[in-house]
Amino acid sequence: MKGVVVIGTQWGDEGKGKVTDFLAEQADVVVRFQGGNNAGHTIVFDDRKFALHLIPSGIFRTEAINVLANGMVIDPKAMLDELEMLKQGGVTDFQLYLSDRAHVVLPQHIELDGLMEDIKPQHKKVGTTRKGIGPAYTDKFARIGIRICDLIDEAAFKDKLTDNLKYHNTILTAYGKPAIDIEAVFDEYYQYGQLLKPYVTDTSRLLNGVLEDGKKVLFEGAQGALLCIDHGTYPFVTSSSPTASSVPLNTGVSPQYITDVVGVTKAYSTRVGSGCFLTEFNNDTASKIRDAGNEYGTTTGRPRRIGWLDTVVLRHTKRVSGVTGLSVMLLDVLTGIDPLKICVAYHLDGKRIDYIPASITDLERCKPEYVTLPGWHQDITKTTKFSDLPDAAKQYLNTISELVGIPISMFSFGPDRTQTIVLDDVMNT
Ligand code: GDP
Ligand code: IMO
Ligand code: MG
Repeated sequence: MKGVVVIGTQWGDEGKGKVTDFLAEQADVVVRFQGGNNAGHTIVFDDRKFALHLIPSGIFRTEAINVLANGMVIDPKAMLDELEMLKQGGVTDFQLYLSDRAHVVLPQHIELDGLMEDIKPQHKKVGTTRKGIGPAYTDKFARIGIRICDLIDEAAFKDKLTDNLKYHNTILTAYGKPAIDIEAVFDEYYQYGQLLKPYVTDTSRLLNGVLEDGKKVLFEGAQGALLCIDHGTYPFVTSSSPTASSVPLNTGVSPQYITDVVGVTKAYSTRVGSGCFLTEFNNDTASKIRDAGNEYGTTTGRPRRIGWLDTVVLRHTKRVSGVTGLSVMLLDVLTGIDPLKICVAYHLDGKRIDYIPASITDLERCKPEYVTLPGWHQDITKTTKFSDLPDAAKQYLNTISELVGIPISMFSFGPDRTQTIVLDDVMNT
């Protein structure tokens, strides 16, 4: 039995899709456990590139079962579009299941996501993906959400949609937006539900069954721990918990099944959307990193903000989520950048601290303290083993591991599946 969680340790886009696809070769089941199509996970192999938003990144491994668990929010149209995209790409041989307890993202959620952003002054905008994620989770916790089991049941869907839209139309019209037509949404989304019905099951029972049989399950996080609704830089966060701690709740498996947590981290930092980002810098080096790393959002195409690696952030994620090994990504992007900086602590009102303050105004007053390391200039994209790396790259990886207090289990030096080296075979140890 093995339950390996892959999580983002920063603000998302760390390369979780690549790591999940890579590890999925050894997995029996791959599970997305939170978020929705706000995520964009890129997978590159055999000169092909796929961007997944809802479907787990194990979908290219025909042996693996792929599961969308109860903790996710599902836009049925987006899921059908993604299945069509896979079909067009020749990816048809897979096993896929969708939780009957996952919540549904409906047009009112997308409208409200946009409205809530639009009415905020610039400095308060979260910069959401406008995919309806926040309002769908809000409905879930307000107990007025619509679940997949309702979507596929004609009477339940009509009843719950009517109540839900009555409430949301009051808000939309109060803000001068047109009311959403209940019949039109029902007709369109009931059809989507029927198309998704063959995938729907009780995924908690499925997952516990395979874990009891001693199989290997890979849990794929979306977003990153600093976007966590509880442990992130609130309110500039997403509306779910992208931590390993949330896996049992969001999938319906016992915590005892979680054996390993792979924390995926970029060799530097990026953030897309608003919110405090202490190690951010805006100069030629940032542009160079943005170009070399193709740092534009997979879901929204927005340029990502660039910063030095922040080990206060990584230690925070290690604490709130549990991380047993680091997967350091995009090391190749730092080639030619010399010197390199790593943030080791913050200074708040003259005091050196090693934590992320809860208050955003306190966080904004923090000043990062850095160590400086030498860079390297050799091409590392064809590395075959750790010892091939230039000394400065080895030193950079070793320094990260020492500062965070976790071993490096993998590192990556190019987008392709093959540009990956495993130091600790987490799926088999
Ligand atoms: P995710 O959301 O965590 O799955 O990450 P994204 O897919 O949104 O963003 C990561 C980006 O980095 C994608 O474009 C990947 O193809 C790319 N990528 C992943 N690992 C590497 C790497 O080691 N080097 C380079 N150059 N690109 C990488
Ligand atoms: P992956 O899985 C990076 C950010 C948005 C915004 C905030 C809230 O690809 O790493 P939301 O639409 O979730 O309400 O937006 O969270 N965000 C992400 N940033 N990668 C993601 O996912 C993200 N998903 C949401 O930019 O700042
Ligand atoms: Mg992404």
